[in-house]
Amino acid sequence: MCAAQNVLVIGCGGIFAAHSAAFEKFPERLQVAALSDASDRAMESAVERLKPSSAIPCYRDHRQALREKAGECDFALVLTPHYLHFEQARDCLNAGLPVLIEKPACAHLQEARALLEMSRARALPVMVGQTRRFEPQYQGLRAWMRSDPSHFGPLRTFEICGFQNIEAWIATKPDRNADFWILDKERAGGGVVTSLMVHLIDLVRYLFDDDFAEVSAVGRLDSPFKNGAESACTALLHMQSGATGTLHGNYLARKTPYSESFKFFGEHGCIGNHTETLGKYFGSNFVGSTHGKAADSWEFQYEGIGKLPESFLPKLDANPFVNQLLEFASAITEQREPESSLQENLNTIAVIEAIYQSLQKGGDRVKVERTPA
Ligand SMILES: NC(=O)c1ccc[n+]([C@@H]2O[C@H](COP(=O)([O-])OP(=O)(O)OC[C@H]3O[C@@H](n4cnc5c(N)ncnc54)[C@H](O)[C@@H]3O)[C@@H](O)[C@H]2O)c1
Repeated sequence: MCAAQNVLVIGCGGIFAAHSAAFEKFPERLQVAALSDASDRAMESAVERLKPSSAIPCYRDHRQALREKAGECDFALVLTPHYLHFEQARDCLNAGLPVLIEKPACAHLQEARALLEMSRARALPVMVGQTRRFEPQYQGLRAWMRSDPSHFGPLRTFEICGFQNIEAWIATKPDRNADFWILDKERAGGGVVTSLMVHLIDLVRYLFDDDFAEVSAVGRLDSPFKNGAESACTALLHMQSGATGTLHGNYLARKTPYSESFKFFGEHGCIGNHTETLGKYFGSNFVGSTHGKAADSWEFQYEGIGKLPESFLPKLDANPFVNQLLEFASAITEQREPESSLQENLNTIAVIEAIYQSLQKGGDRVKVERTPA
């Protein structure tokens, strides 16, 4: 049996609670070797959560952590505000560590490209925390579509929606204030698209193995968002396959029945997700298929739609953050590219950049920069 992999965690704020489950559930595979955060309080609560058997070294400065601990670590986990992702991931690579970065990989496409070049030059993998790819139910949807081409067929049209009261999210933070980083384009890279819709944008690419080609977008810049961060965005999306869809994101949905929903329509079937339980983030996936048969009644379109059969669900942990961390650990051991590698992620960052260009140009159509191989 191999020894557990040692991880340097940079950023111990809200999302560390989700990642920490992997260390709690799989101590034989993953151990926290050191923590770094600008806030002592954040590091103290991370240590409390982990309940380690021996003291975990804590550093206010990630560079000092890298100088002293990189040699003992197998990889780094970057969980900080977006404007820090590029610099901290670059420092990890320079110290010889593979790195898993929370979404969005970087605040700008140019940074993501520079990081990819470094990752290749040093032969060190970089993975992006696009958690939806590690949800058992979304892996099940992929399996359902791929198990029989007549289940869904080529994607034709879709809608993706994300609604959240971000002020309610900020209210849960110990360092909450009106100047919270996620409201500021200079520190978050944008607003609802880069922080929330990035999940659904990437999910479209994951489910259908397709890339975005062109966008046009309009939005709103309501306070307390600032420096050009969009509080809401509505966009028309064109895929390279010819599929078209819409995106609707709103971070100031002060009352909302649920947070995420989507519908996808293919040549033969449909896939959908929204919850009917108030307050649940999202619901179970439902699927429906013609199985290649032609309609013979008006009711035909509604018949046979139901929950994704359980037989398509993979045997994974229910927590996607756990699956994600285990995937990176396995990819390093097996010396292969991880799922959601930085290379794979470039089109997700590129379409977000194109949406921002379109927003600035009042909704003009903007081509998404192609990803070089
Ligand atoms: N996958 C998901 O579903 C999901 C959900 C929420 C957040 N996120 C992502 O997780 C990341 C962090 O978000 P969060 O909600 O935990 O934010 P947060 O504000 O709660 O935590 C950020 C932490 O970074 C620390 N920090 C700030 N500057 C630092 C520095 N120079 N060095 C080290 N630490 C520093 C802060 O003290 C804080 O503890 C973001 O990329 C965010 O988009 C992902």
